[in-house]
Amino acid sequence: MDAPLLGSHDLIRHEEKPGRRNWTKALCFFLAFVSVTVLGLVVSGDIHARAVGVGSKYSGSILNDAIVVESEKGVVAADDGRCSEIGASMLRKGGHAVDAAVATALCVGVVNSMASGIGGGAFMIVQSSSTLKTEAYDSRETAPLAASQDMYENNPSAKYYGALSMGVPGEIAGLHQAWLKHGRLPWRTFFQPSIKLAKEGFVVAPYLAHHIANAAERILDDPGLRQVFAPGGKLLRAGDTCYNVELGQSLEAIAEQGPQAFYNGSVGEKLVKDVREAGGILTMEDLRNYKVEVTDAMSAEVMGYTIFGMQPPSSGTLGLSLIMNILNSYGNSNAVEGSLGMHRLIEAMKHMFAIRMNLGDPNFVSIDEYVSQMLSPSFAKQLRQKILDDTTFPSEYYLYKWSQLRDHGTSHFGIVDADRNAVSMTTTVNYPFGGGVLSPTTGIVLNNEMGDFSTPTEISPDHLPPAPANFIEPNKRPLSSMTPLIISKDNQLAGVVGGSGGMNIIPAVTQVFLNHFVLGMEPLDAVKDPRVYHRLIPNVVMYENCTCINGIHIELSDKRKLFLKGIGHQLEAIAGGAIVQLVVQNLQDTLDLGRKSRKGLNSGIVRGTLTAVSDPRKDGKPAAV
Ligand SMILES: *[C@@H]1O[C@H](CO)[C@@H](O)[C@H](O)[C@H]1NC(C)=O
Ligand SMILES: *[C@@H]1O[C@H](CO)[C@@H](O)[C@H](O)[C@H]1NC(C)=O
Repeated sequence: MDAPLLGSHDLIRHEEKPGRRNWTKALCFFLAFVSVTVLGLVVSGDIHARAVGVGSKYSGSILNDAIVVESEKGVVAADDGRCSEIGASMLRKGGHAVDAAVATALCVGVVNSMASGIGGGAFMIVQSSSTLKTEAYDSRETAPLAASQDMYENNPSAKYYGALSMGVPGEIAGLHQAWLKHGRLPWRTFFQPSIKLAKEGFVVAPYLAHHIANAAERILDDPGLRQVFAPGGKLLRAGDTCYNVELGQSLEAIAEQGPQAFYNGSVGEKLVKDVREAGGILTMEDLRNYKVEVTDAMSAEVMGYTIFGMQPPSSGTLGLSLIMNILNSYGNSNAVEGSLGMHRLIEAMKHMFAIRMNLGDPNFVSIDEYVSQMLSPSFAKQLRQKILDDTTFPSEYYLYKWSQLRDHGTSHFGIVDADRNAVSMTTTVNYPFGGGVLSPTTGIVLNNEMGDFSTPTEISPDHLPPAPANFIEPNKRPLSSMTPLIISKDNQLAGVVGGSGGMNIIPAVTQVFLNHFVLGMEPLDAVKDPRVYHRLIPNVVMYENCTCINGIHIELSDKRKLFLKGIGHQLEAIAGGAIVQLVVQNLQDTLDLGRKSRKGLNSGIVRGTLTAVSDPRKDGKPAAV
């Protein structure tokens, strides 16, 4: 299905062909009307997936746009429609999935700079269809050379707020490294669309507006943030135009001079100066020393699929693998169905959270024992024997030792190209607007990733001791919940999934994975399905009850709630949670064919229909080639 017919990519065509504008506009309105109707049907559950719609591109009023697209050629599912479209435009130029990823990431860093950007870090999984190799690019922030275990002892809030909370940014270095290996298009090509958005202005989407309103005080307190998000002292609202000219200039320098501009040049020098003036400890030496870790992706066999993801300091791949191994040890896929399946999932999540706090950066701490446990089916079986179908237990039962990492924010996208190369990338500045500081001369939002470390003297909300594996050391990377995954079946690409939302990411990605790959739900339903979350302490199941920006209401069914309450869970409604983007490739129709042709032809890369879903909980939408 050629979904975005006029959908997303006419954003660019509009500008190239002004003469067609009115004509296209009329058609847009008609299609927007159709899309509202289709979405209405989706809400009432009458049709599954295949929602095709076209909307306004934030040109004035915000209309319901397609949150799912299909294509044979290539897709991008980001949490902002403009960035999905910019990614897809790179695929249309013949770009590799990595080319599209660089352009998409830069765009998200401009239009959703509260969540990610070149002042932050990322995890990126890249699968090459020709070599069947899957790599992990770890461009997570590192602790600066001047950082120390006790640096926040006298001022615990400085770990989260202000320039001292900043880790050494890795985003640009990671994108560049992946591009050097896989890229086909010139480096500067990726920057043009985002430079334009930053310098000529972009329309503030509702999700950004929501975060601006939430962070009003911090924005008004910081000269850099104020200049961009509250020009003249007036906070921007949805539909307003936002300018970040300095960020546009920084991107221009990096486009022309390469990552050196950031890591050993004018952008870096300006950034370091601003950070130090705001009380931070970042130096040029930190930037010059920053190294991306490139490894084979960590893989795990779960429920008949191979998942490829990040090794620690991400706890995502191991977390999902442990939960799946526990559920798999029940011996049949019915075990995860219905309310009882949900109870078992919640219990498995509680065990996972308890053990994952033993993880940390493997370059600094020995975590082999915990890594093998989290991957071990027999360990999972032991945990499963502690799960009872008719009750839940107090938090202590799960043998926690350390306080939980409560990370935040972030942005996730998935990309598949015509050759079935794939990218799964999660990128972050940690809290919304990071540490609450924007470097005025570079337009860059400073991450507060130091907040993801634990420190010996901190008092955490769960009143547990801090996790020693995650203490600060210079150059060390803090633990993370980010879970970008690429999923294969029989050596063919089956899907790309990941999410944003800190500690809620692993539960959300797990539920979407189960819904689609195990329970067989259509991709859109798999993402839309109401989710549950748990944080171990307090001993409360949080269930979704929210109305999305586009009006879709998502709420756990009363039947499920009653069941969970009946066996002793304490429940609490939440409106937020994690945001998940999902891309799947339909292997069903083509797999038999593929097997035959693989024998005969030796090529054998299946090219099934790709379906891309951007979570309706945020105002993103996917784009297709
Ligand atoms: C930084 O730039 C200088 C020249 O300006 C060069 O000599 C040096 O090798 C660069 N350092 C790194 C780590 O790239
Ligand atoms: C769910 O949220 C709606 C508002 O969107 C509210 O009216 C309703 O009471 C909530 N239900 C529960 C059980 O919290």
